[in-house]
Amino acid sequence: MTDTASTIQARAAGQHGAGFGRRILALADELATWSEAPDRLACTYLTSAHRSVAAQLHAWMQAAGLDASIDAVGNVVGRYASAHPGARTLIVGSHYDTVRNAGKYDGRLGILAGLVVLEALVKAGEALPFHVELIAFAEEEGVRFGTAYLGSGAIAGRFDPQWLDRRDETGVTIAEAIRSAGHDPADIAMLARRDLLGYLEVHIEQGPVLLDSGLPLGVVTAIAGAARYRVTIRGVGGHAGTVPMAARHDAFAAAAELALALEQRCRQTPGVVGTIGQIAVTDGAANVIPGQCELSLDIRADHGGKLDAAIGYVLAKIRQIEVSRGVAIDVRDLHRTPVIPCAPRMQRLLAGSIERVGAAVCHLPSGAGHDAAMFHGVTEIGMLFVRCGNGGVSHSPLEIVAEEDAGLAAAVLLDALKNLHDAV
Ligand code: HGY
Ligand code: MN
Ligand code: MN
Repeated sequence: MTDTASTIQARAAGQHGAGFGRRILALADELATWSEAPDRLACTYLTSAHRSVAAQLHAWMQAAGLDASIDAVGNVVGRYASAHPGARTLIVGSHYDTVRNAGKYDGRLGILAGLVVLEALVKAGEALPFHVELIAFAEEEGVRFGTAYLGSGAIAGRFDPQWLDRRDETGVTIAEAIRSAGHDPADIAMLARRDLLGYLEVHIEQGPVLLDSGLPLGVVTAIAGAARYRVTIRGVGGHAGTVPMAARHDAFAAAAELALALEQRCRQTPGVVGTIGQIAVTDGAANVIPGQCELSLDIRADHGGKLDAAIGYVLAKIRQIEVSRGVAIDVRDLHRTPVIPCAPRMQRLLAGSIERVGAAVCHLPSGAGHDAAMFHGVTEIGMLFVRCGNGGVSHSPLEIVAEEDAGLAAAVLLDALKNLHDAV
């Protein structure tokens, strides 16, 4: 099969980052050895595995010649100071927490790309006209406590102190988890960065667009708007054998009707997605009619109007199910982010860097949420997507990234750091 021009270009450019790619994937393998489960990668906020990964990232940042520290929410920060004390700071970041049966590259690829690039600059004695902080954010997925973006929210000055009272499945609060990790929640407010030069994030695409286009990299145009809820449905439990169907107020059946209505509504509008990723029947048993169940609700869209319309529909449907099934449904708002545009100047910077390393340029939106969203309105944000293999699958152990593509991404990040001042 003849190579397409963009593949040939990227192959030639791949030499730019060949050493970077190998190292990034090897470090990702090492980080993946710490997990809460023996047979899968799970690294949720402030568990023992999570804290081991933080310690390892801290050691690598230190060894790379950065001024490394772990902050009050568990972010690992490696600072590469400029010779100009009054210079502003660029943040290069992504997250190191994972979902429960995760791939090795979601979040971590961006941290490790930043690490190998800064390591190369330190080794070459090449200072930049601005400070750089490589930040490994401690909590982006919202898996353990349901609240996402704790790490980047703290740095962006958007940490809501009410989050500290959120509990995990065992009843531990975020504040207790932070204290057990040796930090003080009272210090979080001081983490907010002011007067930033910008924010750059390298992240796997977590979808098939780059793969299907035969391109290794893409410039992100915008991050989808998202709304996440916790839904509790209270019906009437009872004996599975003695209660006639017409007399039931089955909490799980109500949840099932909601799930199908969500799917049907989201299928109607391109660019809108809806997911119920978690559901649990309280005190469930095969011979008991579900009296209560709890579920997650995640709705996203590539346009604010579409998101509002989908949310409005789902909330109205919930009220209709309450009446028709005689159940009580509580909807708790966990977080809401609007559609976030990436800064045009950062998009131009990344596109120029992709061209300079010899790869083809493309632009695409992100269906996934990212830490970058927390910095919108705080500073100019840019995101670089890296092709995923295996059909673009992510949030799965099947997540894969080619060494050459990882290396190219690092080469682009290095070029962007060298050309940032002119662009911003
Ligand atoms: O849910 C997301 O989009 C991200 O992976 N946290
Ligand atoms: Mn993720
Ligand atoms: Mn991610």
